[in-house]
Amino acid sequence: MTVSFSPDEYKNFQIFLEKACGIVLGENKHYLVSSRLNRLMGDNNISTLQELVNILNQSLSSILRTKVIEAMTTNETLWFRDTYPFQVLSQTIFEDYKQQKKNALRIWSAACSSGQEPYSISMVTDEYMKKNPGFKVDVIATDISQEILNMAKQAKYDALALARGLSEERKRQYFSPVGDQWQVNANIRSRINFREINLLQSYVSLGKFDAIFCRNVLIYFSTESKKDILNRMADALNPRGFLMLGASESITQYCDRFEMVRASTGVVYRLKNH
Ligand SMILES: C[S@@+](CC[C@H](N)C(=O)[O-])C[C@H]1O[C@@H](n2cnc3c(N)ncnc32)[C@H](O)[C@@H]1O
Repeated sequence: MTVSFSPDEYKNFQIFLEKACGIVLGENKHYLVSSRLNRLMGDNNISTLQELVNILNQSLSSILRTKVIEAMTTNETLWFRDTYPFQVLSQTIFEDYKQQKKNALRIWSAACSSGQEPYSISMVTDEYMKKNPGFKVDVIATDISQEILNMAKQAKYDALALARGLSEERKRQYFSPVGDQWQVNANIRSRINFREINLLQSYVSLGKFDAIFCRNVLIYFSTESKKDILNRMADALNPRGFLMLGASESITQYCDRFEMVRASTGVVYRLKNH
């Protein structure tokens, strides 16, 4: 079965998706919608996109709602993505807190996908701790998708996923073979708590952080959502806390509560004094 739909049906689906998870579907994404929902609609005997939107809007099935959101989100990620954020983490962020004699940090990996980002943070922490004993970092890793969080918690990766961004040295040091996969070692896993959080909803229950990684997710959102999320992330940071965005993401049009810090390895944002 192939899903085809009228402009009105597509519009109504765009409205549902943006309300549910912030993702703004461009006008030219008909193929994406069709290919990602095809099987799901077939399995649930739903024959038109409007029928699906009606079920979703009437909250008749939270399982279906979750599955639609999961089908429409992009989980692309890799180890030490873009390299520089993890150099900035140890050379700028950790060093700054060390100067302040603050040696217990909380870091939030928002939209963590299958775990590569928080585990990379944890490996960098481990490397830093070896030279700076007594330094401690707790990581809270969140995503909207329970399915992807379950994969992240398992921390098992196949050879293909492992090859993306991970050095042989770190693989040897931080992973152990389990069947035909590799699992992140327990000391790296134990630093991380995974939780399901929709970035459109409240973060208050997460507490305050010293640094937030919010990478490669805001690109999918509207200007209004970006402003709202960045403003609430500023509220979730301790004074002078750091914010790391994706390599192609910028903050200037959306939030004036941060200043840009140009570290030698790349850019990070920092909460202004007041
Ligand atoms: C492209 S991945 C980015 C992963 C990682 N941060 C990185 O940079 O490699 C985007 C992630 O954002 C999640 N996501 C999308 N909408 C979200 C929302 N409203 N709240 C929380 N997570 C969301 C998706 O489930 C997906 O795992």
